[in-house]
Amino acid sequence: MTLQLAVLASGNGSNLQAILDRIASGALDAKVCLVLCNKPEARALDYPRAAGVAHVALSPADYPDREAFDAAMVAAIRAHGADAVALAGYMRLLTPGFLAAFAGRVVNIHPALLPSFPGLRGAADAQAYGVTLAGCTVHFVDEQMDHGSVIVQAAVPGNAGEPLDDLKARIHALEHRIYPQALQWLAEGRLCVEGRVVRVLPRSDGKAAPGVPDGPWLVWPPLEQGF
Ligand code: GRF
Repeated sequence: MTLQLAVLASGNGSNLQAILDRIASGALDAKVCLVLCNKPEARALDYPRAAGVAHVALSPADYPDREAFDAAMVAAIRAHGADAVALAGYMRLLTPGFLAAFAGRVVNIHPALLPSFPGLRGAADAQAYGVTLAGCTVHFVDEQMDHGSVIVQAAVPGNAGEPLDDLKARIHALEHRIYPQALQWLAEGRLCVEGRVVRVLPRSDGKAAPGVPDGPWLVWPPLEQGF
């Protein structure tokens, strides 16, 4: 069933653009009902403007506390008919009230292989630590930062001495593939959560989903065709 999606973004919005691109290609069965931004000047707002997608900037400074701000976001999301939420570079923790409003339907992307290197500088922290495999993670969101159940991860080699921007670019390129893929699994009702563990169920038509070959990276569970 078409995923009625709200995207929350604070930054550049390249993951938002990737989501819109996969919807346009037909691979992702979703509609971006609303883009919500907590920074009116964020570049992320350029994409919904250009694509004619509903968008709104809400400033936390206009609300007395986090609960009131998140309640305003819940109201805006519901008013636009969305019932699932994708965080795409959204740099604030969500309140219990927000998470309860969209229980089991809030996801995030993080530029590191969780549970290693949570926080604002995932890729930089991984490189500074000297890992030989860096990567990114799509996960369900809970009340702790970068903590909820893992849906899909992608690993890329972390080359010693590589400029950080190069590593970030390679991670970003995979973010743009695994995030729409995870959203498609959510749209298809194929994510089964048992405790912390998420399983991607087979397609309901029984057909094996054709996979996409890996390159100098590994994605698991594997990407399916169109991603
Ligand atoms: C990405 O690296 C994502 O993993 C993190 O924030 C960044 C957002 O990038 N949560 P963009 O705004 O989608 O380009």
